[in-house]
Amino acid sequence: MYLEELKLKNFRNYDSLDIKLNPHINIIYGNNAQGKTNLLESIYILGLTKSHLLSMDNNLIKVNKNFCEVKGVVKKRSFRIKYEVDYINENKILKIDNKEIKKITDYINNSLNIIIFYPENLEIIKGSPSNRRNYLNIELSQLSDNYLKIIMEYNKLLKIRNDYLKKLNKKIEIDNTYFKIITNYLIDKAVILYKMRKKFIDKINENCGKIFYEITKLQNFNIKYISNFSENDENVDIKKKLSEKLEKNYFREIKLGTTLYGPHRDELEFYLDDKNLKNFGSQGQKRMAVLAMKLAEIDIFKQFKNENPILLLDDIFSELDNIKKNNIIKYISSDIQVVITTTDLKKISKNSFKSMTLFKIKNGEVIKTEEVEKDERKSL
Ligand SMILES: Nc1ncnc2c1ncn2[C@@H]1O[C@H](COP(=O)(O)OP(=O)(O)OP(=O)(O)O)[C@@H](O)[C@H]1O
Ligand SMILES: [Mg+2]
Repeated sequence: MYLEELKLKNFRNYDSLDIKLNPHINIIYGNNAQGKTNLLESIYILGLTKSHLLSMDNNLIKVNKNFCEVKGVVKKRSFRIKYEVDYINENKILKIDNKEIKKITDYINNSLNIIIFYPENLEIIKGSPSNRRNYLNIELSQLSDNYLKIIMEYNKLLKIRNDYLKKLNKKIEIDNTYFKIITNYLIDKAVILYKMRKKFIDKINENCGKIFYEITKLQNFNIKYISNFSENDENVDIKKKLSEKLEKNYFREIKLGTTLYGPHRDELEFYLDDKNLKNFGSQGQKRMAVLAMKLAEIDIFKQFKNENPILLLDDIFSELDNIKKNNIIKYISSDIQVVITTTDLKKISKNSFKSMTLFKIKNGEVIKTEEVEKDERKSL
């Protein structure tokens, strides 16, 4: 799968944009604040219907305009599919092949698969646990047709259950049979989420250590998935375990007015040997850990979706030494579509990739496009 064409209207600092992308490497370059990240963000929105910069979601429409359009043509094997995400004031309209799609899950299940790496991703390691669960949710929503539906149901049930616990805390009478039904549903969904998340992290671990080593030459990078009801034992009956935890802690839950066990408390930990990177990793190591994890996803997308994902890399080369930069370039010159932003074109040698297109961005416009095919006879 790759994005063949991208069209924007009134999107952030773009009035209008219409570009044809390279199926392999695309380099978006330009000075600060010219619209490089905005362009990547628009591709992400085309796939996931909202910005990867969650706090920025309300500012997508260009100042003083009341709508914006993000359109793309995607080549999937021999098909061409048109995607469109429009914002009109507060409303969002999703379309596939010009037909409006009402349910967000229907859109996402059929849209572009995107892996993005951007500077704020460091929060996956440094930030609060919700950053890590959010990461799991976004990736698994793309990888599985069911995940988004299940996590939405889980969150709804969790809210109902917590409301009941709060009522019990205030000694308000509740319907006990209904409380039990809600708890059982919650447990069922929790078990599915646990299994999907565990399988995902197991798969990431098959590759991320190798990738981390190729970039940094440091051994034994791995990720631990921690659930507060499973104890990570293969032979444990997860469903039974969670039921027992909830039963045992019933009065504590009432006292605190909240559900204490379940995937809403899941955690990820990142280790280099036995060192937890959150506490002991350098800034660069944390960055490379997130990058290795994201690059490890490429194979998972290929396996689960039977499609190549599109890789978006925002500002990947800043703050990196040359050795790591070159190691990354070696790793990404693969068979998938990649869109990379940089302020400094000198950081990327034109000889690094076989086929690429360079886009120079200035003030929300592409002012130069250059196709580069690597020709062995002449050096560029
Ligand atoms: N809704 C909007 N309307 C108009 N301009 C906007 C809007 N949202 C953001 N911008 C402008 O977009 C520009 C930032 O673009 P972007 O973040 O893509 O820059 P960049 O090229 O990635 O820069 P850097 O190299 O610093 O990361 C800023 O000038 C900002 O004012
Ligand atoms: Mg940027």
